[in-house]
Amino acid sequence: MPSDWRYDRNVRRFRTVIQGIINDRRSGLSKSQSKGGDLLSILLTSEFYAESENTIIIDEIFTFFLAGMKTIQVSTTNLIYYLTCHPEFKSKLMAEILPVLEKAAATGDITQNLTYDSVMEFEYLLQCFNESLRIEPPTNVSISQFFEKDTTLNLGSGQLQVKKGTPIQILFEAIHHNAEQWPSPERFVPARFDTKDPENKWQFTANGKPRKSYSFTPFMGGRRVCLGKTFAEVTIRFTVPLLFWHFDFAFVDHEKQASHKDPYSAGSKEEINIPMVLTNKVKA
Ligand code: HEM
Repeated sequence: MPSDWRYDRNVRRFRTVIQGIINDRRSGLSKSQSKGGDLLSILLTSEFYAESENTIIIDEIFTFFLAGMKTIQVSTTNLIYYLTCHPEFKSKLMAEILPVLEKAAATGDITQNLTYDSVMEFEYLLQCFNESLRIEPPTNVSISQFFEKDTTLNLGSGQLQVKKGTPIQILFEAIHHNAEQWPSPERFVPARFDTKDPENKWQFTANGKPRKSYSFTPFMGGRRVCLGKTFAEVTIRFTVPLLFWHFDFAFVDHEKQASHKDPYSAGSKEEINIPMVLTNKVKA
């Protein structure tokens, strides 16, 4: 995060907006009216937060907003980017989603008619989504973790002694680019997540073995797994097909896109700016 005056100003503005919403909610709704409603209502009526300063509630809202919005925004953009880079995968995806979309559109408003059950059938879409999360995890590093006592970690390649209280961060991007687990890790290959076909070699490690369960951790794992994982996956299942239904995507400058060889290097400071143009598909 940049620590300049613009960043500080934007944080202050954001907090002021949330404070205003809290004030409105507190003055406009009685406790009984706000029970069982949205996240803010739950926080404002929770006993756990009853004694809390507004600052803590603002922090919680801030976390949800960033954790839920920025990640979905980045992962949607990345998925569209990779599918535009690879028309063969996009065609395969369109073959999966178009019949469902056409059926939903035929009976009226497509947005209203696209059902949860129908989007849950989009298996190839999830493969493409997972592969884009692997290659460029929107949250590329975990927040700091600490051990409560001195601990020895078995890393396979040796042991690592970690002192109590030493901050540790997990670099998801590095895990996702481990060539032992992911052959040709820089390549975008959705079939890595196709586990139905036993002949599909991409689902295995370089040695032809099943991958380790923690080789794919875009949502972290264990007790600290992302709270919004399922919500994020369902959101993508609805939004990406609808975006492809309504728009065509293309790179403005094909040469610039083609020359952009290394978008995945962890910690890269280089700004990635590859403009795309989207054209509204006119539907009858
Ligand atoms: C593609 C989308 C998303 C990705 C890749 C993602 C990734 C992650 C990761 C890696 C963590 C663990 C962070 C850490 O402990 O170091 C996390 C935590 C969290 N995520 Fe997500 N997330 C996504 C979407 C969402 C959405 C949609 C929401 C809310 C609706 C959400 C809410 C949260 C919250 C509240 C936590 C903290 C959980 C805790 O207390 O430990 N995330 N997410």
